[in-house]
Amino acid sequence: MTENSPAAQPCSPAQPYSTPAVLDPHRARYAARTAGMTASEIRALFSVASRPEVVSLAGGMPNLAALPLQSLAEQTARIIEEDGLTALQYASAHGSPLLREQICDVTALEGIAAHPDDVVVTVGSQMGLDLVTRLFCDPGDVVVAEGPSYVGALGSFTAYQARVVHVAMDGHGLVPEALRAALRQAADAGQRVKLLYTIPNFHNPAGVTLAVGRRAEILEICRAYDVLVVEDNPYGLLGFDGQTYPALRSLDPDNVVYLGSFSKTFASGLRVGWVLAPPGVREKLVLATESATLCPPTLNQAIVSRYLATHDWQSRIESFRETYRERRDAMLSALERYLPQGCTWTTPDGGFYVWVTVPEGVDTKAMLPRAVAAQVAYASGTGFHTDGSGGRQMRLSYCHPEPDRIREGVRRLAGVLEAELAAGRDAGGNTGRALAGVGAHRARARCVPAPEVA
Ligand SMILES: Cc1ncc(COP(=O)(O)O)c(C=O)c1O
Repeated sequence: MTENSPAAQPCSPAQPYSTPAVLDPHRARYAARTAGMTASEIRALFSVASRPEVVSLAGGMPNLAALPLQSLAEQTARIIEEDGLTALQYASAHGSPLLREQICDVTALEGIAAHPDDVVVTVGSQMGLDLVTRLFCDPGDVVVAEGPSYVGALGSFTAYQARVVHVAMDGHGLVPEALRAALRQAADAGQRVKLLYTIPNFHNPAGVTLAVGRRAEILEICRAYDVLVVEDNPYGLLGFDGQTYPALRSLDPDNVVYLGSFSKTFASGLRVGWVLAPPGVREKLVLATESATLCPPTLNQAIVSRYLATHDWQSRIESFRETYRERRDAMLSALERYLPQGCTWTTPDGGFYVWVTVPEGVDTKAMLPRAVAAQVAYASGTGFHTDGSGGRQMRLSYCHPEPDRIREGVRRLAGVLEAELAAGRDAGGNTGRALAGVGAHRARARCVPAPEVA
């Protein structure tokens, strides 16, 4: 289960991840690698964050309201009527040939000249992450990733007992000098760095985009240190001005494995994603798929294929972009209006997330239960790191709630932060200083006005 999976389903106490280790009769039997498998903080939140009275700025569920449901239902029925014996059957682990061709048209929008053979269809890009980690990482190998980074990727790396080294970002994404320093340090310490995992566009959770001018340099650094680049790009077509950026894979196809997904641009529940990989890696990925799932879901691939063939999917993405831009604007103006002095945040040009840094003395993880009591939820920054950092950060998502709910959620959050800061001041704590953060650009000096939204 990832951070985006069934957010609306309250967690029942019977679910395995809620069983305390001491009560688990199987605890002595598990493989050593399961020690790294812990419920993410975000998932732990779902049971409360999904209550209707709570404004959840925590999850990353795409807004599907613009999908043509009636037409999708008809098309799906037609697939089964006309081609059911194929669409409901096992198929190639590589993925449907037609869909692989169509994926090449999608990735061409970001400058990638791919051949259908290069594409391996996966069960969401999350499966791509799992397979790539399985192929490349032995226990103790190092994966370099941005700090902060995507929770689901960190979960895969730790599940395979890789060690994650976080590298700093600024408002222009991953900092090449910091990457070089991290790789040099690892080499000096005799550590084997296998992968750079990076989310270049509209980063989850940081909301920043890797500057075009840095891309070639980052690829050169990875080549110099013999590190494979894993480019994870589920949000690349969701730039608010419609701008796309040259994919890292388009610049160095031999040393970049690219992960793509239809989750944010079509339907996350279909669980269709893909990996673009050099030939040797691709062959291994197909073998790994066979052992993981035999093949990606045939019917779901057919639904995606039919959608791409019969709908104006690019216009649909344009309408998603407009919705997300409106929500981003609602969030940014609410942050500006309500958040206390000393808070800073990033300004995303696409995607789903704003990364907020709060004043010194506030611990976003410790504050979370108080925020939930005030009926607002966010994802605290520690969940996006494996080294315990991020305690003064939080991720706010604007993808799912309506603009009015976003404004109300930020207003509630501001009230909780004010109370936290006041408690810190009463205790003689050191609060309210100006801060630096990833891409942070502003500080505010305002108290929380009365609610304008019930
Ligand atoms: C950066 C990133 N990578 C991968 C995924 C997983 O996406 P999918 O639904 O394709 O498995 C997500 C989901 O939120 C994500 O944000």
